[in-house]
Amino acid sequence: MAGGTFLLYFYMNFPMPRYFSRFSAAILLAFFLLETTARADDPNPSQYDFAPKIYKGRVIAPAMSYLGADWLERSDRETTEQPEKVLDTLRIAPGSVVADIGAGTGYYSLRLAKRVGPQGRVLATDIQPEMLSRLRVNLKKAGLMNVEPILCTPTDAKLPAGQLDLALMVDVYHELARPEETLAQVRRALKPDGRLVLIEYRGEDPAVPIKPEHKMTLRQIREEVEPSGFQVQHVFDFLPRQHIVVFVTRGGGNAQ
Ligand SMILES: C[S@@+](CC[C@H](N)C(=O)[O-])C[C@H]1O[C@@H](n2cnc3c(N)ncnc32)[C@H](O)[C@@H]1O
Repeated sequence: MAGGTFLLYFYMNFPMPRYFSRFSAAILLAFFLLETTARADDPNPSQYDFAPKIYKGRVIAPAMSYLGADWLERSDRETTEQPEKVLDTLRIAPGSVVADIGAGTGYYSLRLAKRVGPQGRVLATDIQPEMLSRLRVNLKKAGLMNVEPILCTPTDAKLPAGQLDLALMVDVYHELARPEETLAQVRRALKPDGRLVLIEYRGEDPAVPIKPEHKMTLRQIREEVEPSGFQVQHVFDFLPRQHIVVFVTRGGGNAQ
């Protein structure tokens, strides 16, 4: 905003050349101020920041844009990703409080809502308001009242402390712009016996038809997540393309 203040000062104090009216200067100034404000508040830095970011030797993928949101609801997802089998495996108790972090249009949030039932809650977070708008439409259609859409930011996961039984990230972790910060916030949000579950496309398998930066190896997942106070409880590899990695908190009382 310092640049904007300077422009305003210049505009107020110096005579303008004939061909540059005060009106044009005002338009330019308004544009400049609007643009800098938009950048500062933008919840999705990938929209503007195209420089690849590296974390522990891995290229962080840019967040998948809401413009491609139809892909999240593609029909073959049921067979390739088997969401109901995944949730059966995770054994989510009715009444649980679950966060669907990076919920997108709610492919998992809606299913989670049915699992936790009316006594439970699903906190569906995303950094893109457009994703959450589509999620709200999907919730309304399904008549589900126990999902709370939450607009978060890459630096603030917007999760309440000590309340979560489960934090789920499906195809999200590799997009986190600040993985370490987000993990610390998730750790704080979990109950002592809470679980963190990551589902990621298998980076070890070149046959998985996904860009390399949108996949992760099991080794990368462990090396990045474990130092943040987690330990692996289970790895499920029954899905054709994805790892399912279940973490518990270290020192949280539920480690096996
Ligand atoms: C590939 S989509 C997956 C959406 C959903 N989990 C699904 O399986 O249908 C990744 C989502 O993560 C969101 N995302 C990226 N970084 C995030 C962050 N730091 N916090 C919350 N959501 C994030 C993106 O906006 C996008 O909606």
